[in-house]
Amino acid sequence: SKKPSQAILEEYCSSNSNTTSGTTSPSSLESPTAEIDKDPLAQQKGVQLPYPFLPTCLAKHDSHFIERRARQFPADLKLPLLPPESACAVIDAQDKDTPDSWVTRDSRLVRLTGKHPFNAEARIRDLYTAGFITPTNLFFVRNHGAVPKVDFERAEKWELKVHGLCANPTTFTLANLRTRFRVVTLPITLVCAGNRRKEQNVVAKSLGFSWGAGGVSTALFTGVYLADLLEYVRPTKGAKHVVFEGSDDLPNGPYGTSQLLSWARNKSKGMMLAWAMNGLPLEPDHGFPLRLVVPSQIGGRSVKWLARIELSPIESQHHLHFHDNKVLPTTLTAEQARAEKHWWYDPRYLIRELSVNSAIAYPNHDEILDTSLHAPGSTYALRGYAYAGGGRRITRVEITLDEGSSWRLAQITYFEDAFREVEEEDFGVDPIYGVLGTNEQGENCFCWSFWECEATMEELKGAGSIMVRAMDESLAVQPRDMYWNPTGMMNNWWFKVCIHDLG
Ligand code: MTE
Repeated sequence: SKKPSQAILEEYCSSNSNTTSGTTSPSSLESPTAEIDKDPLAQQKGVQLPYPFLPTCLAKHDSHFIERRARQFPADLKLPLLPPESACAVIDAQDKDTPDSWVTRDSRLVRLTGKHPFNAEARIRDLYTAGFITPTNLFFVRNHGAVPKVDFERAEKWELKVHGLCANPTTFTLANLRTRFRVVTLPITLVCAGNRRKEQNVVAKSLGFSWGAGGVSTALFTGVYLADLLEYVRPTKGAKHVVFEGSDDLPNGPYGTSQLLSWARNKSKGMMLAWAMNGLPLEPDHGFPLRLVVPSQIGGRSVKWLARIELSPIESQHHLHFHDNKVLPTTLTAEQARAEKHWWYDPRYLIRELSVNSAIAYPNHDEILDTSLHAPGSTYALRGYAYAGGGRRITRVEITLDEGSSWRLAQITYFEDAFREVEEEDFGVDPIYGVLGTNEQGENCFCWSFWECEATMEELKGAGSIMVRAMDESLAVQPRDMYWNPTGMMNNWWFKVCIHDLG
């Protein structure tokens, strides 16, 4: 009998053998036919897809949307990229007696804010070892409140209201979205603006909780381009911002934020309305059944449990649009920032794009490097991740073992390199070059990269620390010094692991 991955591959081969390249024409988007509405896959048939085998199995998954939401996926329907432990999430005893007592979670995630709300990261070692595509259950979670409970049966009927300054205001169901617009799958790294905040909190407590370096993860997100939806509703004169609102019930109203309309309309920025993550419906923690995904900007812009989009002359007025995701001046203390509200409304302090950043996963902070096990001259592979914002690619990663007096270049693995290996190993087919990890025009990079650099055990033994810094396509390089700020955000100074020689 055939292996499941073979079956999927064969299906892909046969379903793609007659396809022609091209893009969906705007007219078919504007007037969806009954036929398209009936067959969710119809629109994909004439389109050149960036991942020939993935969308086939994802799309198949979509047609079994509700049934496959269960944890017990039949083996042949599982996305072959996911390691087996991906299906191991269970209800955690710690969530008992909280509003999230129904949400399944992986116990390997480290809780950062006590019991509730749930905010958690994977240990950096687990994250790195899991690979480029983070298994969904190890993907970091940032929830400001309780997870909205949405019945799986209701998912297809989930409503997204799009209104405001537009000629064609429409309320879409999830089923409408997937049938009216072209469905795409992109690998996208999300990063919380507070990633690495612990380092600031050690210096002086900020307003936020202590993230380690695991407030970052990467997944294959499936959905439709926001730009396509905006083209459909036709923004009118005066519309300058696109406001997004989730359906979580927070003390100061639902979570919401906005994008500049000019950015949101730009397809190369890759903003998506996504319903699937790593080939399966979103987990409740990650926005089930629908979320916005904004690549290369801070995670706070990727509104979960998305219910409403408004075309507006002004930016979002949501409480957390102002009172979160800001880098206020370092001259302010946390107390001053809390007391003096006007700082939060200064538009200059809003964070949009991620800044260039990197971290070390090997060796870990608490790792013991047993030099007695290594012959003189043997090497240790230093490893970690790096990412940048604004669609920019990481162009160099450098390591220092002498606090910055001298540097050595690390080898960088980009998404397409990592994916090529998986593909060759698992599917035995030629890789698709140049598309993975980028948007469809191939211009932007929405993914982290991994890096590696060899050092001899002697070098490590003699060094007081290992530090890493990365540079991106705009030649922005991570700064040496911490920029302490009241919210403890955008922590991208050189990442350091100290070596204590106890021998
Ligand atoms: N959307 C809603 N509705 N509610 C939230 O609390 N948190 C935001 C964003 N979207 C949030 C939200 C923040 S701050 C981040 S970093 C990302 O979701 C985290 O996404 P994740 O939990 O899927 O990793």
